[in-house]
Amino acid sequence: MAQNRETFGSHFAVIMAMAGSAIGLGNIWRFPTLVGQYGGAAFVLLYLVFSFLLALPIFYCEAIIGRRSRANAFGAFRKLDPKGHWHWLGLITVVAPLLILSYYNVVGGWSAQYLFKSLAGDFVGREEALVTGYFGQFISSAWAPLLVHAIFAGAVALIVVSGVKSGIEKFTKWTMPMLFVLILVIVVYSVCLPGAGAGVSYLVRPDLSKLSGSAVASAMGQAFFSLSLGMGTILTYSSYMKRQDNIAGTGFSTALADMLFALLAAFAVMPAVFAGGLEPGSGPGLIFESLPLIFNRMGAGLPLVSTVVAILFFFSVLMAALTSAISLLEVGVAYMSEETRLSRKQSTWLLSGLVWLLGIVWSLSFGPLADVQVFGMSLFDAIDYTCSNILMPIGGLVFVLFVGWKMPAPDVYDEYTNGGTLRFNSRIYPAFRFLVRYIAPVGIALVALTPYLF
Ligand code: PFF
Repeated sequence: MAQNRETFGSHFAVIMAMAGSAIGLGNIWRFPTLVGQYGGAAFVLLYLVFSFLLALPIFYCEAIIGRRSRANAFGAFRKLDPKGHWHWLGLITVVAPLLILSYYNVVGGWSAQYLFKSLAGDFVGREEALVTGYFGQFISSAWAPLLVHAIFAGAVALIVVSGVKSGIEKFTKWTMPMLFVLILVIVVYSVCLPGAGAGVSYLVRPDLSKLSGSAVASAMGQAFFSLSLGMGTILTYSSYMKRQDNIAGTGFSTALADMLFALLAAFAVMPAVFAGGLEPGSGPGLIFESLPLIFNRMGAGLPLVSTVVAILFFFSVLMAALTSAISLLEVGVAYMSEETRLSRKQSTWLLSGLVWLLGIVWSLSFGPLADVQVFGMSLFDAIDYTCSNILMPIGGLVFVLFVGWKMPAPDVYDEYTNGGTLRFNSRIYPAFRFLVRYIAPVGIALVALTPYLF
């Protein structure tokens, strides 16, 4: 095991890195897409409830395991429970984030492509059919998406290979605050569009008739995906935390920032979708088809403003994607560099290479492999479904069960309250313990099973 383990430089850096992991394509691309598919406000409401009740407890458990052990997602269980077999379950949470990364890189590549297109001014002054039709044409071609996929995957590897402090910390500390400013600009722009009001009411008026079993399970999957849970990511980042950092406070701020960003993204996207008379449930292309259309329309009157807004938007998407992707890769890199003889550099390039190769399959599933179906889903949808609706709940259960039922209670208390020195945390500790032992495990299992029960 590594002797001189790195730590984040400051508490601010910890929060920025955690927020960087949480805020990503999950918020800007996945959340609006699911909200559109599952009927708006009702889905948003469920997502918020699950985030507080089921996701936040997992965050705390991962953080407790990570900081207590100061090890990777596999080694942590071996350190805390040397005689048990939990580390094999930990291994699931090492492999799963790499699977997610393999398709995350594909969408990251799309956002890079759209940034290049915006920089070239391609979303202004064009025929509408060309602007909306571009997405389908782009993702179904074989080579163009593969090129940007490789560029994105390479950028992720380059940041991670630089290490925790000079790579991850430096990058996230600057980009995260900037992202918030950028998304606010886009929200203002979007809600001011003529006809945007319908999008706003879509997001605030719940239509409960749209809530099927799979909508409920997907709302939980989204809460987990968005907060980067059940994947050993929060565990790994927490292993770089200092003893004096406040786990409960960090979790709460990260969750709030993440939820706020998801809501902002929805308010950036949906009013624009309605203003443009588009279909909210159109799937993964939602932000890539609808927003360029809006930028293009606005561009008729204000070409320069519209070009700048388009650039800012896709730049935000790209940055958010990068800060999350590096956290996905870090889980595997921490594992490999601590548990095998490979160096950090070798681990990073080896894993990135494997993940990149696998990603080619998901990328081609929109083009040459479009006919391949698994349980009625495209390969891309199948891997996304498996990761967020199956592997993430399993990972989440592993963490809450370990902290709730296996770890010695005094150790859990010690981590949650910093040895009893954090007065507020000590006061809410009994509620936390109850949530972790009973509510979270039962809730996660029940919600994950809803699609099969109803
Ligand atoms: N939370 C990230 C997002 O919302 O885009 C994605 C993600 C990162 C999921 C890390 C899981 C993870 F472990």
